[in-house]
Amino acid sequence: MEKPTLSKIENAFLPAKEITDADRFAGRKNAVEDAFYALIADGSNIAIVGNRGIGKTSLARQIANIGAGDNSILDKLGITNDGVFDFLTIYLACGNQVSSTEELLERLLTSSSCLADWIYDIPNAKKVMINYSPKFSAKPLGVGVELGGSKTSEATTSPIVSSHPIDVVFTNVADAIAKEGIADNGILFVIDEFDQIPDPAGFASFLKALATNSPNVKFCIVGVAKDIQMLMSEHESSDRLFAGSIISMEPMEKKELENIIDNAEKYIDHYITFDRSARDKISQLANGHPYMVHLIGKFSLRAAFHENILEITECEIDQTLASIAERKADPILEGKYRKAVASSPQREIVLKALAKVQDEHSEMWTTNAYKIALDQGVDNSSQYVGQLVAEEYGAELEKLRERYYRFKDSLFHAYVLARPKMYDQED
Ligand SMILES: Nc1ncnc2c1ncn2[C@@H]1O[C@H](COP(=O)(O)OP(=O)(O)O)[C@@H](O)[C@H]1O
Ligand SMILES: [Mg+2]
Repeated sequence: MEKPTLSKIENAFLPAKEITDADRFAGRKNAVEDAFYALIADGSNIAIVGNRGIGKTSLARQIANIGAGDNSILDKLGITNDGVFDFLTIYLACGNQVSSTEELLERLLTSSSCLADWIYDIPNAKKVMINYSPKFSAKPLGVGVELGGSKTSEATTSPIVSSHPIDVVFTNVADAIAKEGIADNGILFVIDEFDQIPDPAGFASFLKALATNSPNVKFCIVGVAKDIQMLMSEHESSDRLFAGSIISMEPMEKKELENIIDNAEKYIDHYITFDRSARDKISQLANGHPYMVHLIGKFSLRAAFHENILEITECEIDQTLASIAERKADPILEGKYRKAVASSPQREIVLKALAKVQDEHSEMWTTNAYKIALDQGVDNSSQYVGQLVAEEYGAELEKLRERYYRFKDSLFHAYVLARPKMYDQED
């Protein structure tokens, strides 16, 4: 068998990147199906919510692919479809650069990877932009500068030209582009990291108005949240705007997680494989998080390649876990761990004991955890639990009610379970 290149080995797992290729996208049939039907349904927007590392961006990429007319993920998952979509599909990750609904809309209008180039090319859209907001269109496009002067006659006929709010400008521009017939189904905006917008006030009402005025425009918003109210930071019901199309990303099942390993093996032509014990171990440690599979998979594959090991077993996985912690392969998770444990072997014992007793509702009952900690010689566990909810130690835990606690971040919970101990019993 031919030896794969280093690049193949390093890219068989992708902990640092979402999955764009349908080929390498594992499981998630229900989520893809829900999204597909939401794309079909007139007036329906899509929301994807879930914890970090659970696969939101990857799903969003698949939705964007489907919207742009690529049905490969539907075919792969056996989801019946009878045609291809033709949306002008625009993807934007908010990062930390968008601070409000207004800024979001402004960015969508003015980035060339979003609407700007289309606005430039489509006379009606350009006209709307200039008419409604000459000042605003001058900045990003240069079109205002170029054409604004010749627009004076029109501009003077409407006295409120430059005072139109951005949402009105946006709606009209998007409508003009959608009507141009560039894309039969209209425009699909995929807004990732929506939860990073500090003040998304007004987005729900913007969507409501959009649904009435421009039925050819759809939004798919994506973010870390438990539900749509939390994502939109609005208490008023936005349910109807997302009727039937709120996709809540659940932990992945064992079979789906293993499928990620299958895909990686295939990617390197099965030159190195993971045996039963390694697969069981990885999917158990991942606890539903595809990210953990990629992280552990990547470093175990790299080590095996360099040591000429062709079959990875549980034993190699254990070694990899230690090296992931040591090299701070995920600096954020490792940083959280070190902050929580800091200089206390006892606190580490309590933290791990709690992680171990988490139940199917993601709750931890201290009574069970204290027993485990006591077996390891810690008899004042409650003191350490008190510290683990405090800011000084990262406040990774939160108290739900008397004797019940929860990890705020389920990915960190998985990491606590997977990471080898920092302190040996003896220390
Ligand atoms: N369906 C999937 N199949 C294979 N890998 C996935 C899948 N979903 C997510 N991943 C992987 O899991 C990690 C986190 O995925 P991502 O989509 O970025 O999650 P989120 O946006 O929720 O943080 C990435 O390494 C990504 O490649
Ligand atoms: Mg993401």
